[in-house]
This record gives sequence, C-alpha cells and structure tokens, in this order.
Amino acid sequence: MSDLTVNCFRSQDLRAIRSETFVEAIDFLPRLGSTNDRAIELMASSGTAYPLLVLTESQTAGRGRGANVWWSGRGALTFSIVLATDANQLPTESWPQVSLTAGLAVCEALEELLSQGVPPASLSSLPTVQLKWPNDVYLEGRKICGILVEVPPKSSGKLLVGIGINVNNSTENAPPSIQTLATSLTDATGQQFALTEVLIHVLRRLSKRLQPGEFWNADVLNGWRQRCYLSHKSIEIDNGARQVQGFCRGIDDGGALQLEVNGEIQQHLAGVIKLL
Ligand code: BTN
Repeated sequence: MSDLTVNCFRSQDLRAIRSETFVEAIDFLPRLGSTNDRAIELMASSGTAYPLLVLTESQTAGRGRGANVWWSGRGALTFSIVLATDANQLPTESWPQVSLTAGLAVCEALEELLSQGVPPASLSSLPTVQLKWPNDVYLEGRKICGILVEVPPKSSGKLLVGIGINVNNSTENAPPSIQTLATSLTDATGQQFALTEVLIHVLRRLSKRLQPGEFWNADVLNGWRQRCYLSHKSIEIDNGARQVQGFCRGIDDGGALQLEVNGEIQQHLAGVIKLL
C-alpha cells in the first residue's frame, strides 16, 4: 500500500469519517503543532458543531501528560475529539470515567483491527492489548497509545480527549528513550494499516461506549478489568504530593486504582505509575 493510501487523509477519507462515525465537524490540517492546542483554540469560538474532530497527518509539538512531549513520526495517528458533555449526558463527576472509557475504546478498536482476516484457530496467538491505568494502551507490554484529557478554562460543558496511536510509525525511528518502551501496530505485525480505518474503528467504539445506557456499565468495567495491565503487579504511584508503593488490586467500581499497602486497600484517583 502506498504512503498516500495509508498515511494521508484525502477528501474521501474525511467524508467517510464524517458519515461513518458520530463526528459532526472535522478540522483537518496536514501539519499541526498539537491537535489538543488547536482544539482549545476552536473551543473558544462559537458556531462549532460537536463532537468536533481535530486531525492532522503530521503533529510536530504533541503534548503528553504532565510536562511530557508526545513523539509521533510519519504514519502515527494523532487526533483530538471535543465532546459536548451536556448533549452526551456526561456530568462533571463522570469525566474521569470518560478518560478510562477512551482507553477501553482504543483497546477494542485495536483488537478488532488485529483480528481482521485471522482464522478463529489463530485468534489466541494475536498480540495482547492491555490498559495501563488510567488510560495508556499497551501492546505486548509496550505503550502504543497515549490519551490526554483536558478541560480548558472557558470551555463550559466541553471535554477534550486527545489520542495518539502509533500505527505505521516504527519505533526504530523514535528517540532512544522511547524505543525500548513503545511499540506500534507496524512494529508488532509487520503490516501497514490505513489511518482512516483505524480512526473510524476508534471513533465508533468511543461513541458506542459513551452512549447513555452503555456508559460505565458492568460490561465496560469487566472489559477494563480483563485488560488491566497493572493487576497483580508491584507498583509505585506518584500522586504529586508523595509516592506510595504497593500491590495493584485492579480498579474499583468507580474506576479508582486499588493499591494494597500493608494488607489495606487504598483507592487512588490520579497519579503516575511505575512498575517495581
Ligand atoms: C501521554 O501518554 O502522556 C498522553 C499523550 C497524548 C498524545 C495525544 S496525540 C494527539 C493529542 N495532541 C496532543 O498534543 N497530545 C494528544
């Protein structure tokens, strides 16, 4: 497949994204600093329809959580989706779960893509897709997707979800600090994937999982628990104020991380995790 077919968004691709997903408006620029920054600019102006998708083929200044940068070489999928939380019936207290749900939606989409054309007998040998709390997606124990959820000031009733997925960008070309920790779909399978197809799969999964009857139900919780990368591992959580070490007992019904410390279970709502 040519670079134009897999790594570019042509007008027919943008039309397909609009007609086959819940997206109501698309802001596409071939090259962009950060799709989250561009989305924040657009959220400040009136007259935009939501859900709004901000999309680029080449993100040059991607932002990660905290002070991290997000590397994305040619063939990476980088986009932001802005949700109108009133219309989607997502009250403020549910926003942490929207973030967890976005990770699950990416997992489900990647699993669908990886299993396409694979005979049933071989499905058990597919690469494993997992969730590292709160919302990193791992493939075969390496990070393949990062998610940055933001609530910018002056953005009443809107939630911004930025998603970066390593698709056709081999981590061979990444900075050395990333090479050993990250992977991409092409690294794991040797194949190329059309970015439009990957994006449509993710957006469909996201819209399904955000629907009122579906949002944070038992099926989502089970899906999350089945894919929890940290469960039964010794970890350290840094919540900004302090570091706590313990044994991960998965997530509770609200999505908080459960950490067993000296025989007691603690609930953590946010933090950066290190494996011990
Ligand atoms: C992380 O794992 O630290 C989060 C990474 C989020 C990266 C995505 S790429 C699209 C969107 N635009 C950004 O600048 N960041 C997010």
